[in-house]
Amino acid sequence: MKRAAELSSSRRRGWLIPCLLLAACQLPATDVVSRFPPWWEYGGAAPVTSAAHGMVVAAEPHASRVGRDVLAAGGNAVDAAVATSLALAVTYPQAGNIGGGGFLLARFADGRAAAVDYREQAPAAATRDMYLAADGALTDRSLYGALAAGVPGTVAGLWAAHQRFGSQPWEDLVAPAIELAEHGFEPGRELRQGVRKVLERIAGFDAERRRACAQTVSTFAPALQPGPFRQPELAATLRRIAASGPAGFYDGPVAEALARSMRTAGGLITTEDLERYAAEWREPLRWHYRDHTVLGMPPSSSGGAVMTLMANMLQRYALPDMAWDDPGRIHLSIEAMKRAYADRNAYLGDPAFVDMPLERLLSTAYADERAAGIDRRRATPSTEVAPGLGPAFGRGEQTTHFSIADGSGNAVSVTTTLNTSFGSLVSVEGFLLNNEMDDFAARPGFPNAYGLVQGEANAIEPGKRMLSSMSPSIVLDPDGELLLVTGTPGGSRIISVVFQSIVNALDHGMGVGQLVAAPRVHHQHLPDVLYYEAGGLTAEVVSDLRRRGHDVRAREHFCDVQAIVVLPDGSLTGAADPRGGGLAAGY
Ligand code: DON
Repeated sequence: MKRAAELSSSRRRGWLIPCLLLAACQLPATDVVSRFPPWWEYGGAAPVTSAAHGMVVAAEPHASRVGRDVLAAGGNAVDAAVATSLALAVTYPQAGNIGGGGFLLARFADGRAAAVDYREQAPAAATRDMYLAADGALTDRSLYGALAAGVPGTVAGLWAAHQRFGSQPWEDLVAPAIELAEHGFEPGRELRQGVRKVLERIAGFDAERRRACAQTVSTFAPALQPGPFRQPELAATLRRIAASGPAGFYDGPVAEALARSMRTAGGLITTEDLERYAAEWREPLRWHYRDHTVLGMPPSSSGGAVMTLMANMLQRYALPDMAWDDPGRIHLSIEAMKRAYADRNAYLGDPAFVDMPLERLLSTAYADERAAGIDRRRATPSTEVAPGLGPAFGRGEQTTHFSIADGSGNAVSVTTTLNTSFGSLVSVEGFLLNNEMDDFAARPGFPNAYGLVQGEANAIEPGKRMLSSMSPSIVLDPDGELLLVTGTPGGSRIISVVFQSIVNALDHGMGVGQLVAAPRVHHQHLPDVLYYEAGGLTAEVVSDLRRRGHDVRAREHFCDVQAIVVLPDGSLTGAADPRGGGLAAGY
């Protein structure tokens, strides 16, 4: 078995130390580090934290420390997930939330695994064409303003996980978030930049929308002032949640205020929608890659299914024998992505509403059929993979992932979001509401904020969960032992990037510092474009891919992976993506 091994604790120490450690760890002769372009912004590896007992890697340092402290005080990985998630709702409001949703995947030392789907739902009054103008054109109301919000799931989801697996009192896990909201914290550069952008955007809205976003302005403008940033209204809401659990959010004054603000600002969520919301327990999806088992999310996330399909298609090629930057390897990965995303967009949706051909999609026989069309030398045009073409992808985006491993061998992987940065930009009772409705196919056959061209399976229906790409994942080694906890934000790129973090460990022996730093590529069927991270491939590799027929384009800032790798001696190594401002906190 080839276990991923850690290479360097310093991002910019150059090549020498990683190479020596590689030799010591007896990894394959192919030195993956020296195959990142020499000018690569993130060097050979991100800083790595090692720990004997427990680790939390999150996108914002206060939240990582909150989770780590819960572990150090005797809490388990699920306890730490609850506390970390609620802390992120305070310190990382771009994506951390109580007004959004997410997916929590847990794997326990005794071999059990469980997943909670706390994805938002369309309100009961939602209709299929609610975001279309009179002439049938798509409006931006699925992105900004009260109408963009789905019924939030986060409080119900965290509560469900805690009820079943938590070991510490709920109110103790909410307490650190209350403390951060009440007494404040020093906002980092990322938060200040985010707030600045949001205030600018709101200032550009028409008067009606500006009114709907007034509370967001008064809540977040103080983050730009010197000194600690306090959120007293959020602290009060969190206090209700600490005292009453989900009833503090889905019932009573918070629910009433939310429904009232919807009525005045043109949104649809009612107190009945809130009362009716329930998190769903799901059976984690298990897929296999080169003798390893990967636990992933089933629908209403598309993550696990798309990765299964990609892995099944790629198993037939000797990818581990090919260098990390071999254009032939990148070409095959991209061809698999293209086909898997085409199927995602056509077939997947909320299992309560859509009869999905999952058994067939996830079978090796289907992957054989799909892969039969892959030409090793030429890109297959997307029009030949499935019909229909859409324009380019990408508007503002933000989600967040955290990975946790505790001292008893339990692991939790959580991705949570408001959808794009600061969600709908509408706040109530100190928290932001999501704009997750844009993840539906608001107009089937036309692209959403991530350029995803989706079909009927993901059309809007009352009470339906919008299809997600969030892909919290946990990898087990061939003996069934915990090896890797990983995940990322990034909209449609989440799936391809999490997949790359996994194969970079399993095929190329990357340690945690490398797999978070490695350059990334992406294809999502439509648009028919191979995206690579600016500076991440050499001109020769790009030219080779173009000769194969790919439309190759560079993009900045590819995601924000937070990962933990367990070393062969059982110790933990964690690294936050150097593209973001996260922290791996261990003890
Ligand atoms: O659930 C989804 O697929 C999207 N709402 C995720 C959004 C996202 O990752 C934005 N981030 N960078």
